[in-house]
Formats: sequence, C-alpha cells, structure tokens
Amino acid sequence: MSTYQAPKGTFDLIPPKSATFLAVREAMSAVARRAGYGYVETPAFEDTALFKRGVGESSDIVTKEMYTFTTRGGDSLTLRPEGTASVVRAVLQHNLDKGALPVKLYYSGSYFRYERPQKGRYRHFSQVGAEALGSEDPLVDVEIIMLAAEAFRDLGLRQVRLLLNTLGDSECRPVYRAALQQFLRGLDLDEDTRARIDINPLRVLDDKRPEVRAQLTDAPVIADYLCDACKAYHEEVRSLLSIGGVAFEDDPRLVRGLDYYTRTTFEFVHDGLGAQSAIGGGGRYDGLSQELGGPPLPSVGWALGVDRTVLALEAEGVAVPGSGRGVDVFAVPLGEAARHLLFGLVQKLRRAGVSADFAFGGKGLKGAMKAADRSGARYAVVAGERDLSADVVQLKDLESGEQVPVPIDRLVSTIKEKLS
Ligand code: HAM
Repeated sequence: MSTYQAPKGTFDLIPPKSATFLAVREAMSAVARRAGYGYVETPAFEDTALFKRGVGESSDIVTKEMYTFTTRGGDSLTLRPEGTASVVRAVLQHNLDKGALPVKLYYSGSYFRYERPQKGRYRHFSQVGAEALGSEDPLVDVEIIMLAAEAFRDLGLRQVRLLLNTLGDSECRPVYRAALQQFLRGLDLDEDTRARIDINPLRVLDDKRPEVRAQLTDAPVIADYLCDACKAYHEEVRSLLSIGGVAFEDDPRLVRGLDYYTRTTFEFVHDGLGAQSAIGGGGRYDGLSQELGGPPLPSVGWALGVDRTVLALEAEGVAVPGSGRGVDVFAVPLGEAARHLLFGLVQKLRRAGVSADFAFGGKGLKGAMKAADRSGARYAVVAGERDLSADVVQLKDLESGEQVPVPIDRLVSTIKEKLS
C-alpha cells in the first residue's frame, strides 16, 4: 500500500463498481437527451461571487461548504458546489436566452462540498443535471420531474418516492417567512438555531434533531400563505403529475439547501439509504437569472446524485444491465506462434465491435485461464501449436465450459453470431 490515501470524503471508482457508476450516469443522461436536452459542460471552478450570489449567502453551502482559493493572480475562485448557477451563467454569457425558449441543457460531472463525510455524503461527488430555462409553463416542471422518475425507473429502482412542495414567490414567501420567524422565536432553541431564524428560517424546518422536530409540529406551512398565482401554478403542476401517472407525496416541510428556489420544489428519496436518502432534487428558480445580472428567465431543473443512486441500487440488490460484464472474449495463446496469431485475432474482433482482451506476459495455460475467468469474459479463445497446424482455435464458453474448434477464418463471424 502507498503512503498516500484518497483525501477524506472522497473515494476512487474502480472496476467492477465503476461500470455501475457509468451505467447510472448514462441512464440519467439518456432520459435528458431523449427529451431534447443538449449537453453543456462548464468549468469545475468559477468566480466565488457567482456561487455566493447564485446559491445564496445564507445557505450552508456558501457559509460552510465551499472550497474557495485565491489564485496566484489574486482572483477568488471556488470549486463548483452545484451546477445550476454555472449553467445560468453560461446561458447568459452565450446569449442562449435570446434564441428559442426554453433552453434545455443537461450536464454530468464532479461537484465539491466541504461536508462532514458519511455514507452517501462525500466531499467530491457526481451529479447529472438537467435545466429548462426561460419558460413558466407548469408542463415544463412536469416534464423535468417525469424525466428523473423515468431515469430511476429505467435503472430498475423500486423504492423511490417523490416529495413535492412549493416555496411561493417573491410576493408570498416574505409573508410566510415573517410568520415562520415569529413562530420560531417562541421556541426553546439553541443559539446556532436561533441565529438561523434571522438568516434562513426555512432551513430550521429541515432540522433532524428530535427535540427540535417535536417543537415544529404546529409551525406555519407555506401552503397557507401562497398568493393566488402560486397556488394556481402549484395546483396545475399537481394535477398534471396525476394525469401523467406520476406518484408523489405532498411535503409541506420540504425545504431545499439552496436559496434560489421559487414555486415548485421536489426531492426523490430512497428508503434504503438511511440519513442521506435524497437521490435527487430540484425545482424552479425564476429569479436566479436576474440575481446574476440577466433578464427575467423563469427556469426549472434537477440534479440527480450518481453516487447515492449507485448505493440505492446496491440497497435494492438491483444489477444494472451491462454493468457487471467484462469483455466478450479473452484470448489464451499457448506458445509463440499462437501469441502472434491470437494477438492479430484480438485486433480483428475489436474492429468488428467485439470487446476482447489477451493473456499478456506469456502465462502458462493455468495462469492464463485464471486470468480469463477473472476478466469476466463470456468466451475464451485458446490455441496451441496443434490447433494452428489444423487452422483452428478452440472456442470455450466460460459459463457452460463447453469447448469447440472453430476455423480461424470463421472465428469473428462465429463469435458475433453467438453474442447476438
Ligand atoms: P442538491 O439537492 O444540493 O441540488 O443536490 C442534488 C443531489 O446531489 C442530491 O439529491 C444528492 O443525491 C446529491 N448530493 C448532494 N450533495 C452530495 C454529497 N455531499 N455527497 C453525495 N451526493 C450529494 C442541487 O445541487 C441543485 N443544483 C439541483 C437543481 C438543479 N435545482 C435546480 N436545478
């Protein structure tokens, strides 16, 4: 073992689990692509001010969790803790909002938060996100939610629940906020939580401690404070979800960890994960563009947690199709002439779209067959002097153990046939 370890709160993705990770990321990206979302990639770091402004000065992410550093040139940069602020910045920078709306974009990458690490909560984690910018149509909220539900369904997850709420807008939220603050000030809370009442009272609703939760039973809920426009919008989203056959639970206590949300907010939770149960979340952020100096651009989106979704699959014992397999074929040469011939056949197989690997290093039959087994291959192609003089190789099915000679010039077509 080396002296060095991956930093606290991070982990290495290695085979075979890395294949599941890739399959999850691909399933999440595929639903977005199928719905016309184009791929966007933004830098892994941005001006610190973008996140302060975008994610919000009162959020935990900005106050406690950002990886911020000063460059040699004296600029303050921050490793991105989330993707939405960067995507809005990019849309405005490239005037995408001046074209057809909504602008539909998806992304996939690493994000960084200095959180207290535990199972499912890392300092370096992966998200796939989708954002629809520039439309105030409840059907767009519903499309976005349906896409996430579809990604989880495609992966074979069953124990996923969708929690839905609305956070109102700049008209009704301040009234609710004031009512909540008044209620919270009457409770028996520690100093830190009291400070939160002034800065971000909605986050107090998210406190997990039983002694705090017990006091929150009668807390005012946003639903009672919504203005007519927000109420109507939310009812429309709810009824469209029902028409679309998407099961959801109203959760009037659902608050999100980022300050930009307005109206629709949602979270996908998985019941097999314990404390870090959110496998994805999102909502509307109608004011974010203006917050960043742009024009009004009502928008909605989500980000799904790739790492937590992999944990959810493990919790349910679901194997993602295609993720557990090794190569299709493993070539085992016995002797120098066979080494050259099989190495050439491996190239041919690969060119024909069959994945293939080779027993390098002149291993004996036993060692090479062990390597073939370990590779997870479906077939082994074995050849020695005697096979070569008969112009054949031995094709062994590594599941059944059955072995048949195949003429060398028919190997590629035979394997392709078997695999299809
Ligand atoms: P978020 O809820 O902060 O939202 O993150 C989305 C998902 O990323 C979470 O549900 C979780 O699965 C995963 N995640 C977050 N933090 C961690 C962590 N420390 N370790 C492992 N997984 C984590 C956002 O980031 C918003 N940008 C979503 C959005 C897009 N809203 C509108 N558009």
